[in-house]
Parts: sequence; structure tokens; C-alpha cells
Amino acid sequence: MLTALVCLLPTLATARAHSLLLTPSAPSDALHDCIASSYRGHYAGQHAYLITKGCSSSASLGLLDSGSLTPLESEDRIVWVGPSNVRPSTPSTLQDMLSAWEIIDSTASSLLSQHGEDVQTSFSHDTYEVLLDRVPSLVHATETGLFLSVPSSILPVLDTLLPPHLTPVALPSYSLPLPSSYGNRWGVPEAKAAHLANITKHLQFNTRLAAIASTISAKEILEDVRYLTGERQDSDIQSRHSFHPDYLKAFSWVRRQMGALGIECSPYLYEEGFGPGLLCSIYPETGSEDHVIISAHLDSRGSFGSLRAPGADDDGSGSAHLLAIARAISQHNVTFEHPVTLAFFTGEEQGLVMSSHFAHTLKKENVSVQLNVQADMLGYRVPGEPLQLALPATIDLPEASFLVANLSQLYAPELVVGRTAACCSDHQSFLQLGFPATQVFERNGWIADPMYHNSGDLSDREGYDAEQIKSIAKVTMATLFEVAGWQQGK
Ligand SMILES: *[C@@H]1O[C@H](CO)[C@@H](O)[C@H](O)[C@H]1NC(C)=O
Ligand SMILES: *[C@@H]1O[C@H](CO)[C@@H](O)[C@H](O)[C@H]1NC(C)=O
Ligand SMILES: *[C@@H]1O[C@H](CO)[C@@H](O)[C@H](O)[C@H]1NC(C)=O
Ligand SMILES: *[C@@H]1O[C@H](CO)[C@@H](O)[C@H](O)[C@H]1NC(C)=O
Ligand SMILES: [Zn+2]
Repeated sequence: MLTALVCLLPTLATARAHSLLLTPSAPSDALHDCIASSYRGHYAGQHAYLITKGCSSSASLGLLDSGSLTPLESEDRIVWVGPSNVRPSTPSTLQDMLSAWEIIDSTASSLLSQHGEDVQTSFSHDTYEVLLDRVPSLVHATETGLFLSVPSSILPVLDTLLPPHLTPVALPSYSLPLPSSYGNRWGVPEAKAAHLANITKHLQFNTRLAAIASTISAKEILEDVRYLTGERQDSDIQSRHSFHPDYLKAFSWVRRQMGALGIECSPYLYEEGFGPGLLCSIYPETGSEDHVIISAHLDSRGSFGSLRAPGADDDGSGSAHLLAIARAISQHNVTFEHPVTLAFFTGEEQGLVMSSHFAHTLKKENVSVQLNVQADMLGYRVPGEPLQLALPATIDLPEASFLVANLSQLYAPELVVGRTAACCSDHQSFLQLGFPATQVFERNGWIADPMYHNSGDLSDREGYDAEQIKSIAKVTMATLFEVAGWQQGK
């Protein structure tokens, strides 16, 4: 059970990595064992391996015809940084990426030299202080992204060093299954995908479900968002950056809201320096163990160089949508056949750090996951465009996205359903480990929110639309109900 898994502090006792191996070609099943077991995933056209010394000699050379092997000088975390797809620009070039690296490097270096001791106080946190003793270094650059070596002291504030159109994904501290051993499905077992497809095939409009969905209130969603951003009079939250002390105010408030609805939440601690996430679970009376996880990230990111991150859209919208679903469940006495977790992640903005840790914990404990749906950025609508629901163009299990799209037509026909290439969010952590997952997002196509990764991401502005958040909440609620086997009463 999930409650037994929380509060684990990290033991990053991985074997010492000596080199980063990158190849554009997918791994073959014939890989030498020690290389296969060092696989760390796929990053915009690059397959990454963190390989140890004993492994880096002859066996890897076969791969190197079309790849690169870069020695690592430290045991720092390797983080990929690449485009989040903000606008329909021409494809980025190696020169663009190297220019971005110059910005990151010079910002980190000037923080180190200008502020010295001040940095410790301005970044201070209840339980942790950044000691800016070293800056990140560039391990490898391609036209689709940068691989950086990031000291653990910098990781919690890495986002503040990045230009807004770049987003990080930390390479997991554990190895991932090779995609080729399962075909091209992110390693999701066939039976799990078939189960979701079967649910889609048998969907029927349910008037009781629709009646519950219709009680989701845009007004309540907006009030919750305004608490999380500090826009409400009774809230003094300045930031939900994972590393900002105010994050804990948001954490406690969400926990209280859930508690008032009769839903217990447990804090999830995973890495030094990061505010805890929250796992709010509803267990069935009988012993089913097929978990359904609906998630959002409670943390946020501000403007370049700033820890002020009110995040009304990213991801106050997804967080408030989870509260709206919890309210619908609680007020209508809904119970489930399968365990349900409403998860509030943190460390998303520094590279999916909590979700990566959590998904790995589930994997290690052999927990069965039927589905994860991550809600990240639901509230911004370009004035004049229709209400929309976007599913991932590539970073999804197709059967999961089809289910959500079909439910959208049944319960929120006002939404125009399409696809987005926006990258990246916490569902990726689940997919990489072979758990069925998808994401719901606000816009078909590119990220258009002008306040994306900006300290001005408040709800009181043109284009911020709680009606769209409400419509998408109806769809994720219906998805949860269908997959987790809902019933009313008791
Ligand atoms: C598919 O779903 C239907 C309706 O829920 C169910 O009766 C049937 O057993 C399912 N089939 C499989 C193969 O799971
Ligand atoms: C939920 O259960 C409570 C307590 O049993 C009851 O008072 C209430 O009417 C129920 N609400 C709904 C919508 O069924
Ligand atoms: C993991 O769980 C599945 C059922 O979900 C079970 O069949 C399998 O034996 C378990 N494996 C381990 C190593 O416990
Ligand atoms: C509904 O699901 C089917 C697959 O079962 C898919 O072909 C179809 O495109 C889906 N509908 C929408 C609106 O995506
Ligand atoms: Zn986000």
C-alpha cells in the first residue's frame, strides 16, 4: 500500500558512473549486460546511458559509430535540459543550445562570485540551505538539448538558471528498462494497454456520473487557485517554488482541504532540499491492488533568476483541479473498487524529481498501476480560441489518451480535443518505467501562455479561464471513475 511507502529518505547508493554514453539509435537487445543495465532513457533523439568504468571499454565501442562517450568528473546528477515547445519556431540549432548554456553558466558563476554568503540566506529554507560552492558544468550538447552535470546543492534551484523556453529532466538515479524489449510502448505491458482499450470500447454515457461532474464549480476552482497564488486576501503565499519557505504553507493548506473532505494525505520526502509532496489516497474495502493515480505538481517556477513562483496556471490549475475532483468524490459519497491516489508532486520544475523517485518506489515494491493521468497547465486559453483539451503528441500511452479523449466527448463536449508537443511533465516518470500514463494540457499545439515560467503567472489576467479548468476536471474525474470502478453511496 502507498501509505507504507512514504517518508523514505533517499539512498542514492548507485554505482559510481564514469561516463555518459549517448546514441541516436534505440538500444538493441544484444547490448552487453552492463550497458543495458545502465540505460537512463530517451531525451529528444538521444538514448542516454550512465556507464561505470568496468563497462566503458570494448563492449560500448560498437555503439559509438553514431554516438558519443563523455567521461564524467564527478558524481553529480546528470540533467537533460531541452525546449519545452513554447512557440512554432524553427528547429533549434546547436548554436542556440550553446548560447543557452552560456546564459546558464554565466548566471550560475555570477551568483557564486557576487553573492557569496548572501546566496545562502536569500535561498534559505526551513530545513536546508544552498551552499553555492560549485556551478553546473556542460557534459554534452546537441541541437535538441544539453546534458549538464549538476551539483546536488544547485539542483533545487536549477530552474532559476534556465531561460523560460528550456525545461529540465533529471536522468533517473536508477536504470530503466530498455524500450526495445517491449516494442515501442515505453515498456507498458500489452495487457495493461489492452485493459484501457477495452474500457474505451465499452464506454457508455452515465447520467449519474454526468450529474456528479456537473457539480464541479469553476468558481471554487478559481478560489483555490487564488489561495495557492496568494491573490486571495486570506493567503500570504508568495511562491510555491519547491525551495521557497512559502511552499510549505501551500502544502499544509492543501493537506487541510483534503482532510476536511475526509481524504487522508501523507507527506512524501524524497530528496534533500525539496519541499515534500503529498499523496492523498482512497482505499477500497476489498483488497484490490490496481492503483489509479491522478496527479498535478504543486510546485512552480518563476521568471529567470527568481524564486517568486505564484504559478496560477503552472500548475495551480492542475492542483486546484485535483481539489475539485476530491470535493466531487467526497460530497457524493463515491467509493472505488481500486485504490486511488490524488498526488501533488514537487520538484517537477527541477526535472520531475519527485515523480521519478515515487514511480521507482512503486516499481521496486511491485505495485500494479492501471493508469496515471498528470494534469499540468489547464487554465490558459488564447483569447478567441475555443475551450481545449490537449493530449501528448508522443509522450503517452496511446490507449490512455484515447480513453481520455473519448470521455471528453461524452462528458465535456465543449472541449476541442487535440494534441500537443509540450514537454515535459511527471507522467513521463511513470511511462519510462512501463506504467500506463498520459497528460492533460490546455492547448492543442504549442505552449501559448505568455506567463509560462514567469513570476507574473497569476489568475487575474486575460486568457486565464477557470471554465476550461472545470471542463478538463470533468474529464479527468470521469477517467478516474471509469478506471477505478466507482460506485455511489455508503
Ligand atoms: C471488457 O470490458 C467489458 C465491459 O466492462 C467486460 O465485460 C469484459 O470482461 C472486458 N474484457 C476483457 C478482455 O477484459
Ligand atoms: C452522503 O452520506 C451522508 C452520510 O451518510 C448523507 O448524509 C448524504 O446525504 C450523502 N450524500 C449523497 C449525495 O449521497
Ligand atoms: C508482482 O505482482 C504481480 C501481480 O501484480 C505478481 O504476479 C508477481 O509475482 C509479483 N512479482 C514479485 C517479484 O513479487
Ligand atoms: C476514441 O478511441 C478510439 C480508439 O478506441 C480512437 O480511435 C478515437 O480516435 C478516440 N476518439 C477520440 C475523440 O480521440
Ligand atoms: Zn508544469
